[in-house]
Amino acid sequence: MSAAQPLTAHPAAPLRGTITVPGDKSISHRALMLSALAIGETRITGLLEGEDVLRTAAAMRALGAIVTGDSASDWRVSGVGIGGLAEPDDVLDMGNSGTAARLLTGLLASHPIFSVITGDASLRRRPMARVTDPLSACGAQFSARAGGRLPLAIRGPEHAMPLAYRLPVASAQVKSAVLLAGLNARGLTRVEEPIATRDHTENMLRHFGADITVEPDGPGRLITLVGQPELIAADITVPGDPSSAAFPLVAALLVEGSRITVQGVGLNPLRAGLFSVLWEMGAKLTVSNERIEGGEKVGDVTAEAGPLKPITTPPEITPSMIDEFPVLAVACAFASGTSRLRHLGELRVKESDRLAGTAALLAANGVRAEIEGDDLLVHGLGGRPAGGGLVTTHMDHRLAMSALVLGSAAIAPVQVDDASFIDTSFPGFADLMASLGCIFS
Ligand code: S3P
Repeated sequence: MSAAQPLTAHPAAPLRGTITVPGDKSISHRALMLSALAIGETRITGLLEGEDVLRTAAAMRALGAIVTGDSASDWRVSGVGIGGLAEPDDVLDMGNSGTAARLLTGLLASHPIFSVITGDASLRRRPMARVTDPLSACGAQFSARAGGRLPLAIRGPEHAMPLAYRLPVASAQVKSAVLLAGLNARGLTRVEEPIATRDHTENMLRHFGADITVEPDGPGRLITLVGQPELIAADITVPGDPSSAAFPLVAALLVEGSRITVQGVGLNPLRAGLFSVLWEMGAKLTVSNERIEGGEKVGDVTAEAGPLKPITTPPEITPSMIDEFPVLAVACAFASGTSRLRHLGELRVKESDRLAGTAALLAANGVRAEIEGDDLLVHGLGGRPAGGGLVTTHMDHRLAMSALVLGSAAIAPVQVDDASFIDTSFPGFADLMASLGCIFS
């Protein structure tokens, strides 16, 4: 990432149009990692070509896979087979991406090689002990900075032990790191999650031929993976990222007179929490053309502007919309009363402290917001907030996009100090929003 790029969103006229958004970030990382372990060539269509995913592509190349991509989002990966990752001859720099760093730590932990993972200033602040603690039990040795922060050195054992782990936090990254380590361990790896989190790793492991079972366990799941399977190359179509679609859709709900459609949005139930919450708020949001593509539910989502009611989100919905709270909070600023977004402790360890960042984003633009424990209270104005603020984005793409959505719908323009990190997950965001009628300068 280079110099900071300030960007201002001006109040927009009604948004109109039909668009697609870039491929799902979570699925793109996993597609590259698992195809790099499969035998044969996998073709990946619709891969997200954002900075985060390009870091994963580079890492898988450094570990021995043949990864080629072209500008038509058609990527090909020839894998090395389970256990076949080669020792990288340099540090693996995962940039801004927590998913890349944590999932890769899982893969590397069960390979008998030495590797070092680092990242940008935001990623070097994020906790890694949540993955290295459970992964140590497979025999891997880790050395990291204080608090388990990157850079992290990993030496995997000659023969990795399978893992049995109950997640203390609802985290798909931790679950996936344990499962990916289990791929190169003899025997059964078991993960228990107290609340179900996004299941793209499980779905994709099955797609590549792994023997994996997922049993419901109250609100959670028990996942069992048989180690050392032979993964076979299997083409993948990546759906549009619902976490990216959230930005134009919420903008259309808020800018009076708008109506837009985002086609081909991933609607995996463990990712679709935002849509249910917005429906409860009275949003005019419709899904059409529902279908299954590449093993994931996909549909076209249409949003039409209208009044919104405040909401109290149930704690159990948090994992299925963990990345959508900043933009939901922006929607709540327009609602007719106070919303309480509950159980947001995990937002503190995202690309930035997103709980504090979201409250500050709102406060800078004339919306009263308070943090109470792990909850965020947003005092909706029942209309357009003043705007006019300068928002500090703290190297966080989702805070930047949320602030620009607010600026498109507020009374006065909203500026972000740095929009450059948007490219980590949503390359082309500003142009796509402009094609709908947003005015950015
Ligand atoms: C992700 C899981 C979530 C999410 C992140 C992507 C994944 O993180 O915030 O953007 O792809 O597994 P946690 O698992 O840490 O909640």
